[in-house]
Amino acid sequence: MKGVRPSIDVYKVLLPSLEAREYSLVEDREAIERHYRGEPISCTTGFERNRERVRSSLVNLFDDIWEEYGLPRENIIEYGSGATGYYDAFLRPRNIKNWLQIEINPTAIAENRRRNPRANIVEGSYNDIQYKNVPMITGLSSFDTSENLYHAMNQVATALESGGYFLHVQDVRPGVTTVLNYLHKKGINSKTFLGPSKVVCGDMLAVINGNPVPTVDIFRDALGDAIKSQPNLDLVENTYFTLIESNGKLTYEVYDANVYLEIPLHNLLSFGDIDEVGHLIGRREVCVLATIARKK
Ligand SMILES: C[S@@+](CC[C@H](N)C(=O)[O-])C[C@H]1O[C@@H](n2cnc3c(N)ncnc32)[C@H](O)[C@@H]1O
Repeated sequence: MKGVRPSIDVYKVLLPSLEAREYSLVEDREAIERHYRGEPISCTTGFERNRERVRSSLVNLFDDIWEEYGLPRENIIEYGSGATGYYDAFLRPRNIKNWLQIEINPTAIAENRRRNPRANIVEGSYNDIQYKNVPMITGLSSFDTSENLYHAMNQVATALESGGYFLHVQDVRPGVTTVLNYLHKKGINSKTFLGPSKVVCGDMLAVINGNPVPTVDIFRDALGDAIKSQPNLDLVENTYFTLIESNGKLTYEVYDANVYLEIPLHNLLSFGDIDEVGHLIGRREVCVLATIARKK
Protein backbone atom coordinates (compact mmCIF):
# COMPACT_ATOMS: atom_id res chain seq x y z
CA MET A 1 0.00 0.00 0.00
CA LYS A 2 1.41 3.33 -1.12
CA GLY A 3 2.00 6.15 1.40
CA VAL A 4 1.32 3.87 4.34
CA ARG A 5 3.51 3.36 7.41
CA PRO A 6 3.33 0.27 9.61
CA SER A 7 0.49 0.32 12.17
CA ILE A 8 2.94 0.28 15.09
CA ASP A 9 5.60 2.98 15.28
CA VAL A 10 8.73 0.88 15.90
CA TYR A 11 10.71 3.97 16.94
CA LYS A 12 8.23 4.79 19.70
CA VAL A 13 8.44 1.19 20.92
CA LEU A 14 12.25 1.27 20.97
CA LEU A 15 12.71 4.89 22.15
CA PRO A 16 13.25 4.07 25.87
CA SER A 17 16.16 1.78 24.99
CA LEU A 18 17.96 4.18 22.61
CA GLU A 19 21.13 6.13 23.42
CA ALA A 20 22.04 9.67 22.37
CA ARG A 21 25.19 10.33 20.34
CA GLU A 22 26.74 13.52 18.97
CA TYR A 23 28.14 13.61 15.44
CA SER A 24 30.33 16.19 13.74
CA LEU A 25 29.77 17.60 10.31
CA VAL A 26 31.96 16.20 7.50
CA GLU A 27 31.36 17.74 4.10
CA ASP A 28 34.60 16.66 2.46
CA ARG A 29 33.69 14.28 -0.41
CA GLU A 30 37.13 12.68 -0.58
CA ALA A 31 37.11 11.92 3.14
CA ILE A 32 33.64 10.35 2.94
CA GLU A 33 34.57 8.25 -0.10
CA ARG A 34 37.75 7.14 1.66
CA HIS A 35 35.64 6.09 4.65
CA TYR A 36 33.32 3.94 2.52
CA ARG A 37 36.17 2.47 0.48
CA GLY A 38 37.72 1.13 3.69
CA GLU A 39 34.57 0.35 5.70
CA PRO A 40 34.39 -3.22 7.10
CA ILE A 41 31.90 -5.30 5.15
CA SER A 42 30.13 -6.42 8.35
CA CYS A 43 28.10 -3.25 7.92
CA THR A 44 26.37 -4.45 4.76
CA THR A 45 26.39 -8.18 5.52
CA GLY A 46 24.59 -7.29 8.78
CA PHE A 47 21.48 -6.15 6.89
CA GLU A 48 20.88 -9.66 5.64
CA ARG A 49 19.61 -11.18 8.88
CA ASN A 50 16.41 -9.14 9.11
CA ARG A 51 15.89 -9.02 5.36
CA GLU A 52 15.90 -12.81 5.23
CA ARG A 53 13.00 -12.90 7.69
CA VAL A 54 10.78 -10.95 5.28
CA ARG A 55 12.47 -11.67 1.96
CA SER A 56 9.29 -12.84 0.19
CA SER A 57 7.51 -9.58 1.13
CA LEU A 58 10.45 -7.49 -0.11
CA VAL A 59 10.44 -9.40 -3.42
CA ASN A 60 6.71 -8.71 -3.81
CA LEU A 61 7.24 -5.02 -3.05
CA PHE A 62 9.90 -4.70 -5.77
CA ASP A 63 7.70 -6.55 -8.28
CA ASP A 64 4.78 -4.21 -7.47
CA ILE A 65 6.93 -1.08 -7.82
CA TRP A 66 8.39 -2.19 -11.19
CA GLU A 67 4.92 -3.07 -12.46
CA GLU A 68 3.12 0.03 -11.20
CA TYR A 69 5.64 2.51 -12.65
CA GLY A 70 6.47 0.55 -15.83
CA LEU A 71 10.19 0.61 -14.99
CA PRO A 72 12.76 -0.57 -17.58
CA ARG A 73 13.79 -4.23 -17.68
CA GLU A 74 17.05 -3.91 -19.59
CA ASN A 75 20.47 -2.26 -19.10
CA ILE A 76 20.16 -1.16 -15.50
CA ILE A 77 22.98 0.20 -13.33
CA GLU A 78 22.91 -0.31 -9.58
CA TYR A 79 25.17 1.88 -7.42
CA GLY A 80 26.43 0.83 -3.99
CA SER A 81 25.59 -2.87 -4.17
CA GLY A 82 27.56 -3.80 -1.04
CA ALA A 83 29.07 -7.11 0.02
CA THR A 84 26.00 -9.31 -0.45
CA GLY A 85 24.69 -7.95 -3.76
CA TYR A 86 21.29 -8.55 -2.16
CA TYR A 87 19.30 -6.39 -4.61
CA ASP A 88 20.59 -8.17 -7.71
CA ALA A 89 20.73 -11.62 -6.13
CA PHE A 90 17.27 -11.69 -4.53
CA LEU A 91 15.07 -8.61 -4.75
CA ARG A 92 14.92 -7.24 -8.30
CA PRO A 93 12.42 -8.78 -10.73
CA ARG A 94 13.96 -11.85 -12.34
CA ASN A 95 13.10 -10.92 -15.94
CA ILE A 96 15.70 -8.14 -16.25
CA LYS A 97 18.52 -8.29 -18.81
CA ASN A 98 21.92 -6.70 -18.17
CA TRP A 99 22.21 -5.56 -14.57
CA LEU A 100 25.51 -3.88 -13.68
CA GLN A 101 26.54 -3.39 -10.06
CA ILE A 102 28.93 -0.57 -9.19
CA GLU A 103 30.45 -0.34 -5.73
CA ILE A 104 33.18 1.84 -4.17
CA ASN A 105 34.52 -0.67 -1.59
CA PRO A 106 36.96 -3.27 -3.03
CA THR A 107 36.54 -5.68 -0.08
CA ALA A 108 32.75 -5.59 -0.54
CA ILE A 109 33.24 -6.27 -4.27
CA ALA A 110 35.45 -9.29 -3.53
CA GLU A 111 32.89 -10.75 -1.10
CA ASN A 112 30.03 -10.02 -3.50
CA ARG A 113 31.89 -11.79 -6.35
CA ARG A 114 32.56 -14.75 -4.07
CA ARG A 115 28.85 -15.03 -3.20
CA ASN A 116 27.53 -14.23 -6.68
CA PRO A 117 30.10 -15.48 -9.23
CA ARG A 118 27.79 -14.74 -12.18
CA ALA A 119 27.05 -11.13 -11.21
CA ASN A 120 28.49 -8.23 -13.17
CA ILE A 121 30.29 -5.99 -10.64
CA VAL A 122 32.80 -3.15 -11.13
CA GLU A 123 34.44 -0.54 -8.90
CA GLY A 124 33.22 3.05 -9.17
CA SER A 125 31.39 5.91 -7.49
CA TYR A 126 28.02 7.56 -8.02
CA ASN A 127 29.87 10.84 -7.48
CA ASP A 128 31.59 10.36 -10.81
CA ILE A 129 29.27 8.51 -13.21
CA GLN A 130 31.03 7.74 -16.48
CA TYR A 131 28.03 6.24 -18.30
CA LYS A 132 25.70 8.10 -20.66
CA ASN A 133 22.18 7.38 -22.00
CA VAL A 134 21.42 4.91 -19.21
CA PRO A 135 17.78 3.64 -19.15
CA MET A 136 17.74 3.25 -15.37
CA ILE A 137 19.97 3.94 -12.37
CA THR A 138 19.02 2.38 -9.08
CA GLY A 139 20.23 1.78 -5.53
CA LEU A 140 19.16 -0.18 -2.47
CA SER A 141 19.89 1.84 0.66
CA SER A 142 23.01 3.19 -1.01
CA PHE A 143 22.58 6.88 -1.87
CA ASP A 144 22.18 7.43 1.89
CA THR A 145 25.98 7.35 2.01
CA SER A 146 26.31 10.58 0.00
CA GLU A 147 27.78 13.67 1.66
CA ASN A 148 25.90 15.83 -0.85
CA LEU A 149 22.84 14.41 -2.56
CA TYR A 150 22.58 17.48 -4.83
CA HIS A 151 25.86 16.46 -6.45
CA ALA A 152 24.93 12.76 -6.66
CA MET A 153 21.57 13.56 -8.27
CA ASN A 154 23.28 15.83 -10.76
CA GLN A 155 25.47 12.89 -11.77
CA VAL A 156 22.40 10.66 -12.12
CA ALA A 157 20.48 13.26 -14.14
CA THR A 158 23.40 13.67 -16.54
CA ALA A 159 23.86 9.92 -17.06
CA LEU A 160 20.21 8.99 -17.68
CA GLU A 161 18.74 8.89 -21.17
CA SER A 162 15.70 11.03 -21.85
CA GLY A 163 12.71 9.16 -20.32
CA GLY A 164 15.14 7.15 -18.14
CA TYR A 165 14.37 6.34 -14.50
CA PHE A 166 16.04 6.62 -11.13
CA LEU A 167 14.73 4.29 -8.42
CA HIS A 168 16.07 4.35 -4.90
CA VAL A 169 14.71 2.04 -2.23
CA GLN A 170 15.69 2.66 1.38
CA ASP A 171 15.03 -0.37 3.55
CA VAL A 172 17.64 0.22 6.26
CA ARG A 173 18.39 3.18 8.53
CA PRO A 174 19.96 5.99 6.49
CA GLY A 175 23.57 7.03 7.05
CA VAL A 176 23.94 9.87 9.54
CA THR A 177 26.30 11.94 7.35
CA THR A 178 23.72 12.36 4.59
CA VAL A 179 21.05 13.34 7.09
CA LEU A 180 23.30 15.66 9.11
CA ASN A 181 24.63 17.45 6.02
CA TYR A 182 21.11 17.99 4.68
CA LEU A 183 19.90 19.41 8.02
CA HIS A 184 22.94 21.71 8.07
CA LYS A 185 22.14 22.98 4.54
CA LYS A 186 18.61 23.71 5.74
CA GLY A 187 20.02 25.76 8.65
CA ILE A 188 19.13 23.13 11.28
CA ASN A 189 22.25 22.50 13.30
CA SER A 190 21.14 19.42 15.25
CA LYS A 191 23.95 16.96 15.78
CA THR A 192 22.34 14.62 18.31
CA PHE A 193 21.03 11.28 17.13
CA LEU A 194 19.41 8.38 18.94
CA GLY A 195 20.13 4.73 18.25
CA PRO A 196 20.69 1.36 19.84
CA SER A 197 23.72 1.14 22.17
CA LYS A 198 25.61 -0.95 19.61
CA VAL A 199 25.40 1.17 16.47
CA VAL A 200 24.92 -1.02 13.43
CA CYS A 201 25.26 1.38 10.53
CA GLY A 202 23.09 4.33 11.35
CA ASP A 203 20.98 5.77 14.14
CA MET A 204 17.19 5.81 14.02
CA LEU A 205 16.22 9.27 15.17
CA ALA A 206 17.59 12.81 14.94
CA VAL A 207 16.80 15.17 17.79
CA ILE A 208 15.44 18.41 16.36
CA ASN A 209 14.34 21.13 18.81
CA GLY A 210 14.20 18.45 21.47
CA ASN A 211 11.92 16.17 19.43
CA PRO A 212 12.92 12.79 17.95
CA VAL A 213 12.43 12.67 14.18
CA PRO A 214 13.03 9.43 12.20
CA THR A 215 16.19 9.80 10.12
CA VAL A 216 14.40 8.00 7.28
CA ASP A 217 11.84 10.87 7.11
CA ILE A 218 14.70 13.40 6.86
CA PHE A 219 16.45 11.30 4.21
CA ARG A 220 13.19 11.20 2.24
CA ASP A 221 13.08 15.02 2.21
CA ALA A 222 16.79 15.23 1.37
CA LEU A 223 16.54 12.93 -1.65
CA GLY A 224 13.30 14.57 -2.80
CA ASP A 225 14.86 18.07 -2.62
CA ALA A 226 18.01 16.91 -4.45
CA ILE A 227 15.91 15.45 -7.29
CA LYS A 228 13.77 18.59 -7.49
CA SER A 229 16.95 20.67 -7.74
CA GLN A 230 17.70 19.04 -11.12
CA PRO A 231 15.76 20.87 -13.85
CA ASN A 232 15.71 17.78 -16.11
CA LEU A 233 14.36 15.37 -13.48
CA ASP A 234 10.71 14.92 -12.48
CA LEU A 235 10.07 13.50 -9.02
CA VAL A 236 7.50 10.75 -9.69
CA GLU A 237 7.22 9.24 -6.21
CA ASN A 238 8.82 9.65 -2.82
CA THR A 239 6.86 7.70 -0.29
CA TYR A 240 6.59 4.64 1.92
CA PHE A 241 5.28 1.37 0.57
CA THR A 242 3.99 -1.11 3.12
CA LEU A 243 3.10 -4.64 2.17
CA ILE A 244 0.47 -6.05 4.50
CA GLU A 245 0.10 -9.82 4.61
CA SER A 246 -1.07 -12.56 6.91
CA ASN A 247 1.72 -14.25 8.87
CA GLY A 248 -0.53 -17.09 10.01
CA LYS A 249 0.65 -16.72 13.62
CA LEU A 250 -0.65 -15.24 16.87
CA THR A 251 1.80 -12.37 16.52
CA TYR A 252 2.18 -9.02 14.80
CA GLU A 253 5.32 -8.82 12.65
CA VAL A 254 6.84 -5.59 11.38
CA TYR A 255 9.92 -4.68 9.32
CA ASP A 256 10.69 -0.97 9.06
CA ALA A 257 14.11 0.35 7.95
CA ASN A 258 15.67 -3.02 8.82
CA VAL A 259 14.20 -2.94 12.32
CA TYR A 260 12.39 -6.24 12.78
CA LEU A 261 9.96 -6.93 15.60
CA GLU A 262 7.73 -9.91 16.10
CA ILE A 263 5.35 -9.00 18.89
CA PRO A 264 3.48 -11.87 20.58
CA LEU A 265 -0.19 -11.47 21.45
CA HIS A 266 0.39 -10.96 25.20
CA ASN A 267 2.89 -8.12 24.55
CA LEU A 268 0.68 -6.65 21.87
CA LEU A 269 -2.08 -6.25 24.44
CA SER A 270 0.09 -3.72 26.27
CA PHE A 271 -0.32 -1.45 23.21
CA GLY A 272 -4.10 -1.26 23.72
CA ASP A 273 -7.18 -3.35 24.37
CA ILE A 274 -8.14 -6.33 22.28
CA ASP A 275 -10.44 -4.32 19.98
CA GLU A 276 -7.63 -1.93 19.17
CA VAL A 277 -4.94 -4.54 18.58
CA GLY A 278 -7.21 -7.30 17.27
CA HIS A 279 -6.67 -6.31 13.63
CA LEU A 280 -2.89 -6.66 14.07
CA ILE A 281 -2.91 -10.30 15.13
CA GLY A 282 -1.66 -12.60 12.39
CA ARG A 283 -0.41 -9.64 10.38
CA ARG A 284 2.96 -8.88 8.80
CA GLU A 285 3.79 -5.32 7.68
CA VAL A 286 6.95 -4.68 5.67
CA CYS A 287 7.80 -1.07 4.89
CA VAL A 288 10.31 0.56 2.53
CA LEU A 289 10.84 4.11 1.29
CA ALA A 290 10.77 4.25 -2.52
CA THR A 291 11.91 7.30 -4.48
CA ILE A 292 11.36 7.43 -8.24
CA ALA A 293 12.45 10.12 -10.68
CA ARG A 294 12.17 10.32 -14.47
CA LYS A 295 14.39 12.30 -16.81
CA LYS A 296 12.46 14.64 -19.10
C1 LIG B 1 24.25 0.98 3.33
S1 LIG B 1 25.25 0.08 2.22
C2 LIG B 1 24.07 -0.80 1.21
C3 LIG B 1 24.65 -1.94 0.47
C4 LIG B 1 23.68 -2.77 -0.34
N1 LIG B 1 23.02 -1.99 -1.37
C5 LIG B 1 22.66 -3.39 0.57
O1 LIG B 1 21.57 -2.80 0.71
O2 LIG B 1 22.93 -4.46 1.15
C6 LIG B 1 25.83 1.36 1.13
C7 LIG B 1 26.80 0.88 0.11
O3 LIG B 1 27.14 1.97 -0.75
C8 LIG B 1 28.55 1.96 -0.98
N2 LIG B 1 28.98 3.31 -1.34
C9 LIG B 1 29.26 4.35 -0.52
N3 LIG B 1 29.61 5.42 -1.23
C10 LIG B 1 29.56 5.08 -2.53
C11 LIG B 1 29.82 5.75 -3.75
N4 LIG B 1 30.22 7.03 -3.75
N5 LIG B 1 29.65 5.10 -4.91
C12 LIG B 1 29.27 3.80 -4.93
N6 LIG B 1 29.01 3.09 -3.80
C13 LIG B 1 29.15 3.72 -2.62
C14 LIG B 1 29.12 1.45 0.33
O4 LIG B 1 30.42 0.96 0.17
C15 LIG B 1 28.11 0.38 0.70
O5 LIG B 1 28.44 -0.86 0.15
